[in-house]
Amino acid sequence: MSEHQKNNQDSAAASPLALRRVVTTLSEGQAGESCRIHGWIRTRREAKNVYFVEINDGSCLSNLQAVISLEDGHEAMQLERLHTGASIELEGELVESPGKGQRVELSVRSFTVVGEAPPETYPLQKKRHSFEYLREIAHLRPRTNTFGAVTRVRNAASMAIHSFFQDEGFLYLHSPIITASDAEGAGALFQVTTLDIARAAASGAEIDYTKDFFGKPSYLTVSGQLNAEIFACAMERVYTFGPTFRAEQSNTTRHLAEFWMVEPELAFCALEGNMELAENFLKSVIGAVLRDCGEDMEFFDLRIEKGLIEALERLVSSSFTHMTYTDAVKELESSGRDFEYKVSWGADLQSEHEKYLTEEVVRGPIIVTDYPKEIKAFYMKLNEDEKTVRAMDVLVPRLGEIIGGSQREERGDVLERRMRESDLDPAAYWWYLDLRRFGTVPHSGFGLGFERLLQYVTGMQNIRDVIPFPRTPRSAEF
Ligand code: 4AD
Ligand code: MG
Repeated sequence: MSEHQKNNQDSAAASPLALRRVVTTLSEGQAGESCRIHGWIRTRREAKNVYFVEINDGSCLSNLQAVISLEDGHEAMQLERLHTGASIELEGELVESPGKGQRVELSVRSFTVVGEAPPETYPLQKKRHSFEYLREIAHLRPRTNTFGAVTRVRNAASMAIHSFFQDEGFLYLHSPIITASDAEGAGALFQVTTLDIARAAASGAEIDYTKDFFGKPSYLTVSGQLNAEIFACAMERVYTFGPTFRAEQSNTTRHLAEFWMVEPELAFCALEGNMELAENFLKSVIGAVLRDCGEDMEFFDLRIEKGLIEALERLVSSSFTHMTYTDAVKELESSGRDFEYKVSWGADLQSEHEKYLTEEVVRGPIIVTDYPKEIKAFYMKLNEDEKTVRAMDVLVPRLGEIIGGSQREERGDVLERRMRESDLDPAAYWWYLDLRRFGTVPHSGFGLGFERLLQYVTGMQNIRDVIPFPRTPRSAEF
């Protein structure tokens, strides 16, 4: 072994091990190894001259149990600082654990409490806290089992999304966050401005947007779709994956003001290809999370949503049911259910309707297509009936809509007419219309709400609990 290799080995041995390696990959045969770890104390238990200290460093759900013998002459001052929430570095020997619940434990030779957490004031004590309370301490909730697991699943799902599209030959496109156009034509925009709004309001004068930073009103994007269409009409297959913003006053468990959206867009593709892509995509990403996050998924199945893993496995191996909006309305009308929102052809499907269809009628995911044009965005391709558009929503049990997409209107004249009908100024979308003027092509795409996917995969009830820092009406703390 060269000196260089030896040095490398020494420094690797000296650097702390992630618990994931210690807890999930070290086998009993490796017991007896010396190791260093660090993390935060989850709990401390005292028994006959021994402290059992559970350590977690976020790399996996499991804690490592560290056993500190009080007879080993540790400094009394250090021992007093061993409380839930404190950060700690430890060094010792991995030994087979005689106790239940863990294969190996750390027999501690020495340790240092790096930063203490006074038990009188540390907000995360050992008991179970409600998710509502944890939202109020979003700076500490990553230290809980649930949010650790959500964070790891969120990471794994992000990577699985990129892998899926990269394998399918899609290019990752960075669409802009600031935009001057309303991609959904729905008016739920957050304005971006450097003008002194307070002064303008006080003076009563009309606001002069030519003096604003971009020379015209601009907003945070509601969707990267229109930008993705530009690139799909040149690169054929692209996808975006980034934050999007909606100023809807929707205080529900499924809406955020800032959420992450995945938006593939494909040229030379009609609605059928789009539906196939959406189905393959969902199955691939969910399959990857089941495969890569076994420990966390078992936790969600046990603690959050009974039967979760089985339901997800079923989704991965099933085929999605297809249904037109018109047939969906018929199903709902003949259900005999007393829905809060009445159903009739032309009305948008509410989440109670979506849940009924997925949970009671089909008992699985459904792709609903061909919605009335009045309830969908201006860019969706008009069907020959002139009443419906080539829209598709993917609905799943427990949640309802998880994906919204469509074939896009590629005929310039029809698109322009649809814009006018939707009170949009075609002049403002001149570049979008140009795509139909020069080398137009049938193209399609969809948007997956990333947090909705995470809700579905983890079983978490509230969308605020699957994003690190939720932004909702009247709430932008942290
Ligand atoms: O159905 P939406 O509005 O479709 C679009 O934005 C299209 N431009 C997508 C496309 O075709 N490229 O939104 C897509 C998905 C929804 O199905 C839902 O999962 C999610 O985004 N979504 C939200 N997620 C959290 N909070 C909100 N306020 C959301 N609004 C939509
Ligand atoms: Mg939608």
